[in-house]
Amino acid sequence: MRARRSASSSRAPLCGSSTIPTSTCRWPTSCTERTATVTAVAVDPEQRGRGIGAALVQHSVRRFTRAGYGLLTLNCFPELENYYRGLGFTVMDAWNMSLGPLNVVGHRWGDTRVAARPLDRYTTFVDVPGLTSPVVSGILPNTRMARGAYFDGEQFRV
Ligand SMILES: CC(C)(COP(=O)(O)OP(=O)(O)OC[C@H]1O[C@@H](n2cnc3c(N)ncnc32)[C@H](O)[C@@H]1OP(=O)(O)O)[C@@H](O)C(=O)NCCC(=O)NCCS
Repeated sequence: MRARRSASSSRAPLCGSSTIPTSTCRWPTSCTERTATVTAVAVDPEQRGRGIGAALVQHSVRRFTRAGYGLLTLNCFPELENYYRGLGFTVMDAWNMSLGPLNVVGHRWGDTRVAARPLDRYTTFVDVPGLTSPVVSGILPNTRMARGAYFDGEQFRV
């Protein structure tokens, strides 16, 4: 996806772009079909600080929401965590996804954290005692985390 003009001028040359690959392949197919990932956001250094990066991200949010995705994710550098929080993302150490009331799969990256933002009213983040990062819940039918669930170090219980 590319922004052909700056936020303030319709005649400016290309100054920003974001890269949107296919969804991640770490999860069961149906979850991947509901999870969108932006791998890179970049703005021409001469044009930074004018809202172009934010406009690219917001465009991605609208585009994936219209396409029926439930979650938008991106890996962000530590210095940009507050930037993405300001754009409505939650920044997490690990990515945990609920596949059923007491069934969670997770993934942790080596040196970056993940920023994620729900795109519909079904997908939510749930804090689960015993886990350090929230769980993405309800991305598919029947995948909501059980109310009151906690992780005892070995398994999920209510
Ligand atoms: C990150 C990036 C896309 C932001 O684009 P932008 O058009 O300048 O962003 P916006 O105009 O929407 O927002 C500017 C805000 O982001 C902050 N910001 C931008 N880059 C930052 C950085 N590396 N560290 C901390 N804050 C940063 C600015 O301080 C500014 O904050 P303010 O609004 O409080 O003044 C751009 O700096 C860039 O292309 N960086 C290099 C590539 C990169 O690091 N991409 C991120 C991959 S996750």
